[in-house]
Amino acid sequence: MRFDVITLLPELVESVVQVGVTGRASQRELIELHCWNPRDFTKDVHRTVDDRPYGGGPGMVMKADCLLETIRAVRAATPEKTKLVYLSPQGKKLEQSMFREVSHDPKIESLILLCGRYEGIDERVIQLEVDEEWSLGDYVLSGGELGAMVVIDAITRLLPSVLGHKDSAEQDSFSENLLDCGHFTRPESIENLDVPAVLKSGDHKAITRWRRKQSLGRTYQRRNDLIERNTLSVEDSKLLNEYLKENN
Ligand SMILES: C[S@@+](CC[C@H](N)C(=O)[O-])C[C@H]1O[C@@H](n2cnc3c(N)ncnc32)[C@H](O)[C@@H]1O
Repeated sequence: MRFDVITLLPELVESVVQVGVTGRASQRELIELHCWNPRDFTKDVHRTVDDRPYGGGPGMVMKADCLLETIRAVRAATPEKTKLVYLSPQGKKLEQSMFREVSHDPKIESLILLCGRYEGIDERVIQLEVDEEWSLGDYVLSGGELGAMVVIDAITRLLPSVLGHKDSAEQDSFSENLLDCGHFTRPESIENLDVPAVLKSGDHKAITRWRRKQSLGRTYQRRNDLIERNTLSVEDSKLLNEYLKENN
């Protein structure tokens, strides 16, 4: 998967492929990151990328001309099967299902991620070029770069052969509208808290059943909105009832 990020702060975005899962995916050429700085597409000596807003008011607006030039250059360098996303607090709130869709959609070979700064970008760039607007949540950041890095990380870990264990991503929270269960590692006991006995039993069927029960129970307690999106199977309803009895 190829990511092209349009940003005034390429050094910030590039750090995402220097470490961790995304770093390894980049080294193994499972993902490609290219940053494009609109400043390189300006025509004046000061390399101006922003200007005062029409109608007055505080702050500056990212200019349409250098952004459109940048987008044209990116499109010329990327596969045709691409989607241009503007990171914006006014966009659709990011969810795992959106990342899953992109990572599995054969119609999308690359993503162009447009990061705003200042008061945002000239509205006409959105009208002319943007396919979708995506938001990190109901709060305002100084720029879209952190959003672009979130998108790159979340999609990369869903790509085939990026994670070590085939099921890792499938067992994460939100993969079935459920939260993940709790995890434990050595030592067996710490500050009088023991690892649940079933996890040491070697009985894989019992372990799977216990994990599913914890997942359902946690989701019910912490994110009931997710449970309401699911139609629980008879077995899941039974497990959830068991969990609620055991934890009340
Ligand atoms: C200071 S913000 C501009 C906010 C804009 N004036 C508004 O109220 O909608 C500058 C840039 O940060 C990015 N940004 C801010 N909050 C974001 C969020 N919650 N999700 C994604 N991007 C965000 C956008 O790219 C935006 O253009």
